[in-house]
Parts: sequence; structure tokens; C-alpha cells
Amino acid sequence: MTPLVISNLTVCRRADGRVLIDGLSLSVAAGEVVGLVGESGSGKSLTAMAAIGMLPAGLQQEAGSIMVAGVPLGGLATAALRQLRQRTVSLIFQDPMTALCPTRRIGAQLADVLAVAGCPRTDRVARAMALLADMHLPDPAMLLRRYPHQLSGGQRQRVLIAMAFSASPALVLADEVTTALDVSARAQVLRLLVERARQMGSGLLFITHDLGAARHCCDRILVMAGGRLVENGPAAQVFGQPASPEARQLLAALPERAVPRQPLPVGGGLQ
Ligand SMILES: Nc1ncnc2c1ncn2[C@@H]1O[C@H](COP(=O)(O)OP(=O)(O)OP(=O)(O)O)[C@@H](O)[C@H]1O
Ligand SMILES: [Mg+2]
Repeated sequence: MTPLVISNLTVCRRADGRVLIDGLSLSVAAGEVVGLVGESGSGKSLTAMAAIGMLPAGLQQEAGSIMVAGVPLGGLATAALRQLRQRTVSLIFQDPMTALCPTRRIGAQLADVLAVAGCPRTDRVARAMALLADMHLPDPAMLLRRYPHQLSGGQRQRVLIAMAFSASPALVLADEVTTALDVSARAQVLRLLVERARQMGSGLLFITHDLGAARHCCDRILVMAGGRLVENGPAAQVFGQPASPEARQLLAALPERAVPRQPLPVGGGLQ
């Protein structure tokens, strides 16, 4: 079953009828890592929210359909939608501090997620430790007793990735998950995210502003501009020969594509 198929999705703002997503169609296959890139405000986060059935209040789906692991989201009852979010699709956000509860230990939070995923009570501690070990987090037993503020940003993000994969989801949506991290933590978190998705055969929709990372780890690249999909192809093709002007403009920002500047004149310029 294909993890995500969006067909002809149109989303509008109720207040003024402004179209925010305009006839968008995309799919993510099992085990596939798809990068979603585009300028700020182009509709990337709204696409992820629509895919998990969580469009913000004030917005409405005008047209189109969304299928997650073969299940059409349209018309799903609240309970069925909640179950889908608990077992079939996970969304990981940019800021791990707001996604974790600050007053509860990591172990308790992981146990909750595992309970929802159907893990028996007696297996939860062992399973939580195994999930943390899979994320290459040191000393999982000690980590379970810690509070979120006692972890680094990279460690917190790895805990969230562990949680996101705890129910072996068909689809994982990752929205700017490495943006808040420093460069070395960023590379590690990204590697673990992609490795985990491939191991579990989950489809991964990876939203990012980091074009270098997208080129490095994605099988396919989608480029959005003004709520529309303007490019969809294998990473090598999109980065090598982008077809749309919007994609060409976006990719021109990559350092290796920058036009070399003239060196500053040395001496005498200020006299
Ligand atoms: N809750 C909301 N109510 C009204 N308009 C919204 C809402 N959320 C987003 N928008 C609008 O929808 C458009 C797309 O927003 P979205 O958050 O998807 O952009 P994005 O591509 O994720 O941008 P960024 O890269 O900055 O995160 C923007 O014009 C934004 O102002
Ligand atoms: Mg966004």
C-alpha cells in the first residue's frame, strides 16, 4: 500500500478565499525518502498538516483527496483519524522542546507512546531502551529517567524520532526537523532519520530548507512555489537540470552554483 497519495489537493483560507495549496498531487512510496523544498510560505507545512488530517482552523480543503496507507482521510471519523495518527502516520516538528512535555521523564513519555501503539505494559521499558539504542543514544536506561531539559537539542530530536517510529508507521512526515540543531548534530540526526525510515520501510516526506541535505539523502525532490508543485523528479535530475524557473531560482542559492564574485580591491580603496 502506498504510504501517501495526494491527488489534486486545493486548500483555501475561509476568511478571504485565498488559495494556499493549488491542485497539488504527490506520492511517497514505501521506503522512499522524498524531499519537499521551496521558499518560505510556499505551502510545505500545510501539505504535511493536510496529510495527517490536521489543517489549522480557518483553512478548508476545497478539492482533492488524500490517501494514507490506502485509507482515504476524507470522511474519517475523529476516532479513526486519531488511530491513524497513532499507528500509521507520524509527524515530527522542528522544535523538539515544544513536542516533548517538559515536566515528564523521557521514559514516561515513551511508555505512553508505546502503550498507544499496543505494546504490552511488561515490555515497554525494554522496548523504550531498544528504541533509544537504535537512535545511537548512549546509556538508554539513564536517559529514561531524565527530563527533556536535561538533554541536548540533538538528543531530544533523536528521542522524538524514536517515538515517531515506535509504532512502525507507514508514513513519517518530518518538517524542518534539523533546523534548530547545530551543524554536527544536524548531520547525525538526518542520517539516523533516513536510516530508520529505510530500515522500517516507511515512506519519509522530508521538508527542509537545507538543499544540500535534500540532495544528499533524498531519492526524489519535490519543489513547491506559491502553493503549487513546480518540480517532481529524481534528486539527481532536479538538482542537475531543474525544469521550472522557480526550481532554478531556488537551486541557484546552493553554494556551488553561486556566481563567483570579484575579489575586493586590496588597499587604496578608502582614500
Ligand atoms: N493557520 C493559518 N491560517 C491562515 N493562513 C495560513 C495558516 N498557516 C499557514 N498559512 C498560510 O499558508 C501559506 C503556506 O504556509 P506554510 O506554513 O505551509 O509555508 P511553508 O512552505 O511551510 O513555509 P516555511 O518554509 O516558512 O515553513 C502561507 O502564505 C501562510 O501564511
Ligand atoms: Mg513550514
